[in-house]
Amino acid sequence: MDVRIAVLPGDGVGPEVTAEAVACLGAVAEGFGHRFEFQEALIGGAAVDATGDPLPEATLALCRASAAVLLGAVGGPAWDRHPRNQRPESGLLRLRQALGLYANLRPVAVHPALEDASPLKPEIVRGTDLMFVRELSGGLYFGEPRSYSDEAAVNTLPYTRMEITRVAKMAFELAAVRRQRLVSVDKANVLETSRLWRKVVDDLAPTYPQVTLQHAYVDSFAMALITRPRDFDVVLTENLFGDILSDEAAVLAGSLGLLPSASLGGSVGLFEPIHGSAPDIAGQDRANPIGTILSAAMLLRHGLGLEAEAAAVESAVNAVLHAGHGTGDLQGARHAHGTRSLGALIREGIRSSVAVALRH
Ligand code: IPM
Ligand code: MG
Repeated sequence: MDVRIAVLPGDGVGPEVTAEAVACLGAVAEGFGHRFEFQEALIGGAAVDATGDPLPEATLALCRASAAVLLGAVGGPAWDRHPRNQRPESGLLRLRQALGLYANLRPVAVHPALEDASPLKPEIVRGTDLMFVRELSGGLYFGEPRSYSDEAAVNTLPYTRMEITRVAKMAFELAAVRRQRLVSVDKANVLETSRLWRKVVDDLAPTYPQVTLQHAYVDSFAMALITRPRDFDVVLTENLFGDILSDEAAVLAGSLGLLPSASLGGSVGLFEPIHGSAPDIAGQDRANPIGTILSAAMLLRHGLGLEAEAAAVESAVNAVLHAGHGTGDLQGARHAHGTRSLGALIREGIRSSVAVALRH
């Protein structure tokens, strides 16, 4: 395969973690005989500083002309006082919307070597394997009207049947090939949007008879998620609930730094870790590169359709965690590493798993 991959390092730790993920993709290309052409562009605060715009036209054009987009993180205190459309986050939100990415997949699995890394009891987190499907291009994030003054501010939470249907279908389809369980999270006891959400999800259910559907209110689900996480498989949520619940779910995995995501639905997918730019540790070789490396694995699987290649990356990550390696955010990692040395270990793992595969 010969494809272009857009790389948007962004701010804070973004450049460090994307560098490790790109190097892993390079090892995959070498091992499996692909040609990946990586092209970098500006996004977020870095783009604001250079051009005044958190999503320059050239960046969007590059993304549209690429097979997939790998992103680091955006944001930081330097831009906190900027008006909304010049904040780094608005560049990311515009990119998601411009590419038509309505479904954000956030897998959360607890690695056996990291059962003690969570502040929760090991017997609670053990065996957790969740897939969040977060609606990504609607809801409160994009709702109009919106306004701000120092005395009163407005945001709106709109959803249409079409917007709910397309993301819910993706969740049902994922559940069908996983453990056939879907929980749809809403606040239908209070919000009209949630009533529609529930109705649309119920209307789809007969099309997927093999999937057991359950509805949950977001407040009680927030509690269930960390008291009995093993009871759930695929979790479908609207945009803001998904943002909040997926950070909460990171506690199960042991560190936010481990978790990847894939944003799908348009012609080009966007792959990014769920963590932010972590300005406090930026440039210190301390960030965990695994969330971005696993995002690169999702890029291979969902963006390029390269399943064996994705699996090679994931098994290299698993092996490294299994052997007790980790960055400082992982409680109980027996071998402490910086961003670069952990990335290098994972790359070695990719190379040797390719070598083994070639021998068979
Ligand atoms: C995420 C982030 C973003 C979001 C921010 C950076 C705009 O928190 O991807 O979860 O809220 O979607
Ligand atoms: Mg978030």
